[in-house]
Amino acid sequence: MWSTTPLFPEAASTIAPRVDALYLSLVGLAAFFSILIAGLIIFFAIKYRRRSPREIGRNIHESNMLEITWTVIPLMITMVIFVWGAKIFFAMSTPPAETLNIYVVGKQWMWKFQHLDGQREINELHVPAGRDVKLIATSEDVIHDFFVPDFRVKADVIPGRYVTIWFHATKPGRYRLFCAEYCGTKHSGMTGEVIVMDAPQYQAWLSGGASQQTLTEEGQQLFSDLACITCHRSDLQGRGPVLEGVFGTAVTLMNGQKVMADEAYVRESILNPAAKIVAGYQPIMPTFQGQVSEEQLLALVEYVKSLPRPAPRPGS
Ligand code: CUA
Repeated sequence: MWSTTPLFPEAASTIAPRVDALYLSLVGLAAFFSILIAGLIIFFAIKYRRRSPREIGRNIHESNMLEITWTVIPLMITMVIFVWGAKIFFAMSTPPAETLNIYVVGKQWMWKFQHLDGQREINELHVPAGRDVKLIATSEDVIHDFFVPDFRVKADVIPGRYVTIWFHATKPGRYRLFCAEYCGTKHSGMTGEVIVMDAPQYQAWLSGGASQQTLTEEGQQLFSDLACITCHRSDLQGRGPVLEGVFGTAVTLMNGQKVMADEAYVRESILNPAAKIVAGYQPIMPTFQGQVSEEQLLALVEYVKSLPRPAPRPGS
């Protein structure tokens, strides 16, 4: 319906019709009251106009009933809008449990995408239709903003943090991607396309191209290249904590505090190892700030995520 209206982007995700319904209701509500109020002003101005120069208006006293009515009705309307909006907001900000994960790095002035199978893309993102897709996004310089109008998806992408964005594309097609945060001279050129394919097409796309390392394999390679492996060993000889099975669990720190070992925790522990020292270990790990790129950090995060609890690392 809206694809024929140049004012409105296509609705190509599951959240889009919900956002549109709220938005159009707000427009309708605003139009209804604007017309009602403007109409009454004109009507009363004519009906109660001054008919002779000596006419004096009648004294009118307050009416509690009237005042309560015009307070309670707008309160109820605004509460409905609030609850409705909050429900959509929570749906947008809570990714489902089972998702296809893709990493995103924004930089001046491009979008870089990293698939778990190893594919990398710039300013183009291939995703399957009919699946929940979760983007874990960060920036390597300034604040950018990931905006796909056809999906009603928009989120700031912030340096030093992992921001989670999710969507469920409903129909195959090509959808414009924008940066919606002014980020320097070529901000307006920081655009791209999200290419939604049906499942078999997407599988074909994934398996196409040169065979490459998966993100986990790349992380494993880095883990030994950067000599992380000499301290983080699973055989209890290590000077650093064992990383097997750590991801997604609560870690007890030196000061007794417990933190969740998530993407942000792993990233911080690589760049600023002294920030959160695990109980029973010394703060001896050097920082890797400046030695690993955001993409390499993602590979390391994915490697740590992949380590199963009891199994020893292959080759150790
Ligand atoms: Cu990136 Cu604007």
